[in-house]
This record gives sequence, structure tokens and C-alpha cells, in this order.
Amino acid sequence: MTPRHFLSLLDLSPDELRGIITRASELKTIQRSGTLHETLKNRILAMIFEKSSTRTRMSFEAGMAQLGGQAIYLSPRDTQIGRGEPIEDTARVLSRMADAIMIRTFEHSKIERFAAYSKVPVINALTDMYHPCQLLADMQTWIELRGDISGKTAAWIGDGNNMCHSYINAARQFGFTLRIAAPPGYTPDAQLLADAGQCAILLDSPAAAADDADLVVTDVWASMGQEEEQARRVRAFADFQVNSAIMSAAHPDALFMHCLPAHRGEEVSAAVIDGPQSVVWDEAENRLHAQKALLEFLINPGTGANR
Ligand code: CP
Ligand code: NVA
Repeated sequence: MTPRHFLSLLDLSPDELRGIITRASELKTIQRSGTLHETLKNRILAMIFEKSSTRTRMSFEAGMAQLGGQAIYLSPRDTQIGRGEPIEDTARVLSRMADAIMIRTFEHSKIERFAAYSKVPVINALTDMYHPCQLLADMQTWIELRGDISGKTAAWIGDGNNMCHSYINAARQFGFTLRIAAPPGYTPDAQLLADAGQCAILLDSPAAAADDADLVVTDVWASMGQEEEQARRVRAFADFQVNSAIMSAAHPDALFMHCLPAHRGEEVSAAVIDGPQSVVWDEAENRLHAQKALLEFLINPGTGANR
């Protein structure tokens, strides 16, 4: 049987995504009550990290332990992955030993190739194209604090990067409008934008994107792998900082989100990220709960969001 994968938000239906988020909130309550909840006892998650991580590694590792299973960290520095073993061979070997495989890598085509050869579910923990796990956490955070997000307006200010692409897909799947303000040359993938139709709109200025928005989101100006472009990007994005002026253009109740890590004084001012509209710490915590719900859904159908 072909396994279900989670390479982008489009791999699950809107109902499945909403089910996972409902389950994530239930798992959060269970976790906070201190109740033992081992739906993935003795199950194994293999985690391949070809880029750095704090939140993703911690949340998947803690999540598997809390569900009674185990996560195994694999880096290219000390595995054959870094010595050129074909990704297709690694997929066939790991999927005979693990119940699911999580990958953080560069080219999206690499995780697609891996998934094509995997007998078990593959989870995208960030590629250059997408970061769908972060969107599960962001949507959980919105829904827990504000209720349904369908019909709302979110503003993406900054780079048309992997996070922006996942926000475009989230707008389609969750039924909200995404207004994107990105500098010329840093706009999101044109095909992805076209496929989203009226769900995602490209605007000229950050203030126009933020106008009366319910949610304001940004991300770093230089993503992992773009470090040498930092100086050029700082110049290109100078007018795209989320600061108090941008937040005052948004709806008075607007929330601010950022996947973290953040650079205060670059893409976001300290006053905004450390201010009352910022929900970045809830957002980071929800990585744990949302991914536990995703793992239950993919590894152990019959529990959690699949019931
Ligand atoms: N937001 C996020 O994915 O953080 P890490 O890079 O620390 O995993
Ligand atoms: N866009 C960022 C997200 C980090 C979680 C990056 O790819 O580095």
C-alpha cells in the first residue's frame, strides 16, 4: 500500500488538516494534565537534518518520546547521506526500520524522490520550497486564540520564501485571503501563486498588505542556504520590516506571527515581536502538539485525528 506523505499542505484534505489541528489541541490538554498518552509506543521516527534546527528537532523528538516512541537524529556529517549514498537507497533502507521519516533539506525534489522510494510516511520538516509543519502550528495558534480562520485576511510581509509558499497553500486549504508584500525579485513562486487564485494576492507595499489584516506574518530576510546574500537582502528588504507602523495599519485585534528564529531590527522590530500582539511563543509551542497529531495521523491510523 502506498503510504500517505506530508510534503506540502496540499497532501491532506482541508478536513484532514482541520482534524489534525483539533487533535493537536486535545493532545495539548492531555500533555498539560500530565496524563500518560502512548499511542505510538515502540514506534520509530527517523529524522534527517541537512540544515540546522532548534524547534523542529526538539518538537519531533519530545513528541515521539511523549507518545511512547522514539526519534533517531541523522545528520549528513555522520551518516552515509553526507558521503553521497543515493537518496533512493537511503529511503529504502530507513523505511524498513522506521515507522515514519522526517526530512529537513534543500531542494524540494530531493524529498519527493525520497518519498517515492519510502514504504513509510515521509514528513517535510522544511525544504527550500515549503515548511508545512510550521503552518499546522500557526493555524492551531490562530484557531485556539481567535476561532475559525476562514474568511479572514492575513498579510505576509517579506521574502516570498518557503514559509510564504506554505502560507499560500494554507490560504487555499483553510479558506482565508493572503495579501503578500515582497520586494521585486523576491516574490513567491508564480505558478504557486496562480494556482491559489483569489486566495493569495500580491501587493506593492507592506502597508497595503497589512491594511485591516487580521494576522501579520513575516520571516527572516535570508533563509538557511542564503547566508552569503545577507548584505544584498538587507538592502532589498529595508522597507519591508514589520514594525509598529505596520501593525497600526492592521486590525486593532491583529495577531503577529513569526516561525522563528527572528532577527530583531531586521524583518521585525523588537517592539512588535516582544509586544502584546505577538503570539510567537504559543506558535513555537504548538509545533509540539501539532506534530504529535500529525504523527498519530500518519503512523497510527485509528487514533487521534483518524478516529
Ligand atoms: N521554525 C522552525 O522551524 O525553527 P527551527 O529552524 O529552529 O526548527
Ligand atoms: N525561511 C526560513 C525558515 C526557518 C524555520 C529558512 O528556511 O531558513
